[in-house]
Amino acid sequence: MNKNNEPPAIEFIDVSYRYPRSSRWVVTHLDLKIHKGEFVAIMGENGASKSTICQMMNGIIPNSIGGRLVGQVLTHGLDTKESGIAVLATKVGIVLEDPETQLFTTTVRSEVAFGPENLNLEPDEIEERIRWALDIVRLSGFEERMPSSLSGGQKQRLAIAANIAMRPDILVLDEATSQLDPVGVEEVLSVVRELNQKYGMTIIMATDASEMIAKLMDRVIVLNQGQLEADGTPHQIFSNKTLFQKLMIRSPQVSQLASQMETANHPFASFPITVDEAKKGISELLGTTNGSSNDEESINRPKRDHKQVAIQVENLDYIYQPLNVHAVKGISFNIYQGEFVAVIGQNGSGKTTVLKNLLGLLRPTSGTVMVCGQDTKTTAVAEMARHVGFVLQNPDQQLFADTVSEEVAFGPKNLGLEKSAIAERVATALELVGLEDKGEEFPPALAKGDRAKVVIASALALDPEVVILDEPTTGQDYRGCHQIMQIAQSLHDQGRTVVFVTHHMALVAEYAQRVIVLSGGKVLLDDVTEAVFSKPEVVRQAHIIPPQITELGQSLPIDYNLPRTPLTVDAMYQAIMNRFPDKAGAVSG
Ligand SMILES: Nc1ncnc2c1ncn2[C@@H]1O[C@H](COP(=O)(O)OP(=O)(O)OP(=O)(O)O)[C@@H](O)[C@H]1O
Ligand SMILES: [Mg+2]
Repeated sequence: MNKNNEPPAIEFIDVSYRYPRSSRWVVTHLDLKIHKGEFVAIMGENGASKSTICQMMNGIIPNSIGGRLVGQVLTHGLDTKESGIAVLATKVGIVLEDPETQLFTTTVRSEVAFGPENLNLEPDEIEERIRWALDIVRLSGFEERMPSSLSGGQKQRLAIAANIAMRPDILVLDEATSQLDPVGVEEVLSVVRELNQKYGMTIIMATDASEMIAKLMDRVIVLNQGQLEADGTPHQIFSNKTLFQKLMIRSPQVSQLASQMETANHPFASFPITVDEAKKGISELLGTTNGSSNDEESINRPKRDHKQVAIQVENLDYIYQPLNVHAVKGISFNIYQGEFVAVIGQNGSGKTTVLKNLLGLLRPTSGTVMVCGQDTKTTAVAEMARHVGFVLQNPDQQLFADTVSEEVAFGPKNLGLEKSAIAERVATALELVGLEDKGEEFPPALAKGDRAKVVIASALALDPEVVILDEPTTGQDYRGCHQIMQIAQSLHDQGRTVVFVTHHMALVAEYAQRVIVLSGGKVLLDDVTEAVFSKPEVVRQAHIIPPQITELGQSLPIDYNLPRTPLTVDAMYQAIMNRFPDKAGAVSG
């Protein structure tokens, strides 16, 4: 790797760091080398200091953030403390998780032009770079748009385009694809891989997209509380069972399956991390196929015994003014009381717009939306809030009180409840989200997972019949995702109607009963979860890729008689285990 004795792209030499006004060392004695041309993933739980380490690579830390950095960070051999941020900015591009903090010009075009202009490139070259970068992230045609008018995922796409347009030697992506639709993640990653192979660009990506890591990357670095926990190839890392017992990070679903099989004494001959490897492993494990063929998939559509319609959307049209963007085009659906529904689809397909119309935050341009019997066109937002609790795509926008308890008490106070009733509502809501010990804390200072939970608790304090969550798990680690989805599950178990948006298909498969797929402002599919994922070619039009375990089920020969559309790792595991006479480890049900 280290040709001609070139210095590594990035080198950490015994680095420790603490933020300003903090006595806690968040990175301790880190030694790490990343060579030129490597394509590296950084994984770790929330709080592992992934973002801190990313921001050391271009000197933002400590040069503009401050704090105390001991040891040395070298970028192409230059000490980041000594070479100014301006010099480093020409070598290292960095895309942060929250695109809002990075977009600062007035049009999409000027956002992308900014970097190349600063590099003093020729005007033709600048034009070419803008065209190229916007094309890659599928924002061609959006050149004159204000960045603030873009959807969440479109903003993230723009931040990526602005960085790759500079063709930096080193590109650091800190959870920069967390709000992208699945096909978007695939597209961005394959372009990045191309930049890596064609220009030898060094790519460092903090991400938990383990299935993509398995397919594309050379090396995985696992951090644990500011220290190096593991460093190896994707195969070495994902097959390391002790590592996954110790840390809640997500391995590819086929690797999770393989680990379970190993524990049950039916290991795969070689440990899989991709669908193809797992497919081979299963055929070795089950021998020649012998089951009777099962080509007719019977999808179980439970009868709707729901009594009442909770949400009724009829011919909903929404046009954003003054830009005249036709975001939602004649959508109709009913959601019944007690349903657990996922709304999915590509970036910009209209998910957030539809949800905001359900809340009365946007009013239909035409058509009607009735929620809990209220017409959202004529009902005040405060009145809607009594019936519908919601968590916006960027929940930090919803935090404004000084303590967690005050934040959660805000809604019940507005309802004019008695003091004791308010206290009770707050206590119940905090308990539901597991924040009963954090009532006195300052919300913005909490970890991301807890901030999202505060917003959920605030919604629950109004005891709403319907709960709407717009990408509640973005930026959460594996543990945080499941904690939040468990909260949603318990709301559903209590009989509430839950509607959520996410780009994490494994969560959709595991939790949702029904899925509405949006594409270009219209409903492409609306069916039970299994039925939706049983049509991978159709959902792909909406930039959706079913979970890896589902893909495995669909890729196996039919006469294996394994589930065609397994929704969870466990479903596949049980089905395989049922093929072994001893059924060790198989649990019925
Ligand atoms: N304030 C606005 N003004 C003009 N256009 C807007 C505005 N907000 C959103 N849009 C556009 O409306 C369309 C739908 O946006 P919406 O936010 O509903 O998408 P989404 O499905 O939630 O996407 P994502 O997955 O990225 O969150 C997009 O093309 C977006 O650019
Ligand atoms: Mg959205």
